[in-house]
Amino acid sequence: MKIGTPKETFEGENRVAMTPDSALQLQKLGHTCIIESGAGEKAGFADAAYKEAGVEIAKTAAALWKAADIVAKVRVPSEAEMKRLRSDQTLISFFSPVADEDKMKQAAEKGATVVAMEMIPRISRAQKMDALSSMANIAGYRAVIEAGNNFGRFFTGQITAAGKVPPAKVLVVGAGVAGLAAIGTSTSLGAITYAFDVRPEVAEQVESMGAEFVYLDFEEEQQDGSASGGYASVSSPEFREAQLAKFRELAPEVDIVITTALIPNREAPELWTEDMVKSMKPGSVIVDLAAEKGGNCKLTVPDQKIVTDNGVTIVGYTDFPSRMATQASTLYATNIRHLMTDLTPEKDGEVNHNMDDDVIRGATIAHAKEVTFPPPPPKVSAIAAAPKKEKAKELTAEEKKAKEIADFKLQTRNQVGLLAIGGGLLLAVGLVAPASFMQHFIVFILAVFIGFQVIWNVAHSLHTPLMAVTNAISSIIILGALIQIGSSSLLITLLAALAVFMASINIFGGFLVTRRMLAMFQKS
Ligand code: NAI
Repeated sequence: MKIGTPKETFEGENRVAMTPDSALQLQKLGHTCIIESGAGEKAGFADAAYKEAGVEIAKTAAALWKAADIVAKVRVPSEAEMKRLRSDQTLISFFSPVADEDKMKQAAEKGATVVAMEMIPRISRAQKMDALSSMANIAGYRAVIEAGNNFGRFFTGQITAAGKVPPAKVLVVGAGVAGLAAIGTSTSLGAITYAFDVRPEVAEQVESMGAEFVYLDFEEEQQDGSASGGYASVSSPEFREAQLAKFRELAPEVDIVITTALIPNREAPELWTEDMVKSMKPGSVIVDLAAEKGGNCKLTVPDQKIVTDNGVTIVGYTDFPSRMATQASTLYATNIRHLMTDLTPEKDGEVNHNMDDDVIRGATIAHAKEVTFPPPPPKVSAIAAAPKKEKAKELTAEEKKAKEIADFKLQTRNQVGLLAIGGGLLLAVGLVAPASFMQHFIVFILAVFIGFQVIWNVAHSLHTPLMAVTNAISSIIILGALIQIGSSSLLITLLAALAVFMASINIFGGFLVTRRMLAMFQKS
């Protein structure tokens, strides 16, 4: 069949639904490809590149719609495009069945088949076709870049000759696909990143990405934030109050806020209120990724960047993926190509629109002269429910202090006990051993004690430099042992030989371990 992609007609849209690479893959499925001249230009794909990939170039949109059996595009079709849609055609595109109900009915009446990309079920098997996720991923990344562009400082902390720069503090509200992408970008740029979500199962993901999950002092816990399908449900008023109180506490502290909180088929919840904006430092930035659905901050103006009276920049752009058109087109075209692979099971260029297939059925909103939206609920749940983990009980400030004092007392008691036993043993040895031996023995005991205290408190991440230091200590031991090894006393010679042997294990073992560690990081 012939798959065609027109130039996007929506004002400011830079993406394209077919790239030269995706066209090559589509041809491997037995299809032929056609593209409207100049359709890929704004995304960085010239007509010549398509031609080289064996794609036919249609001079006009009309010619393209006429020639194609399947039309793949990005945005919801315009009125003019709806008129061009034929009964024997399949349209694959973003197509909000609720907001664009009339167009959906119109397509069904004509007998055309419409596959709405945002309706692809969010199950593991369909991840490769999940355009919502691939676009949200770009939006999350771009939100951080946009925030950085409007923020007057570094993300990472620095100590330079010209002075100390504190790291930026970023708060990401909503840790779904876009939120996690924003967290990843923000932590990798070196900012201290906090994140909050009503779904507690994301806390682990947030922490594994180097950010800190913001917990609330709330009895019901954050457990009730998850609904079916991996999406959030509406929170209770009490929960919302606890959430807003926490945000109010954080507002004067954070430099950048990225809000991504959405609940399917609803207006975005208001989470960053006017008073929070007012309490932020001048120069702070808010990027509201929920702007299209009314914004998580009511001061957000969709598609605009504004600066408040107290100097806070609020970015309300709704076209983040289009601002990274090359990347977005590549991912979107790949999503479409995977969908076409499922629609062409025999790889013979023939489409089998199998309405028994969960994914195809879920995404099809018009077929065989019928509106097929909403689809039946998916048989598989979107994400495996995370095993409920016992969350440590949140302690009040007084309880925390009392616990700290009790811990300190116990630690001190243990240490005093150990010192008393050690002192007693030392005294016992001193009663029988010669004075010269005791002098060295006490130095030895102190060295072991201090060394133990120092090493025990070293963070795991610093164990590699610590190994280098222990190698240096081993060298000192070897030197001392070599000086003593020629002694006339057999006991001293034996002890020196033992010291040489032990220190050698440490030194050569250290080299072997270092070599193995380096090999782990070398590309084969
Ligand atoms: P979304 O765009 O609908 O919402 C964004 C985030 O906002 C969600 O994490 C939601 O919990 C959060 N949120 C809602 N109300 C909030 C509030 N009051 N305060 C703070 N946060 C709030 O969600 P998205 O990113 O499209 O996906 C949600 C989840 O769906 C993913 O994290 C994932 O678990 C699941 N999913 C599964 C896929 C699959 O299995 N194929 C693919 C994509 C997503």
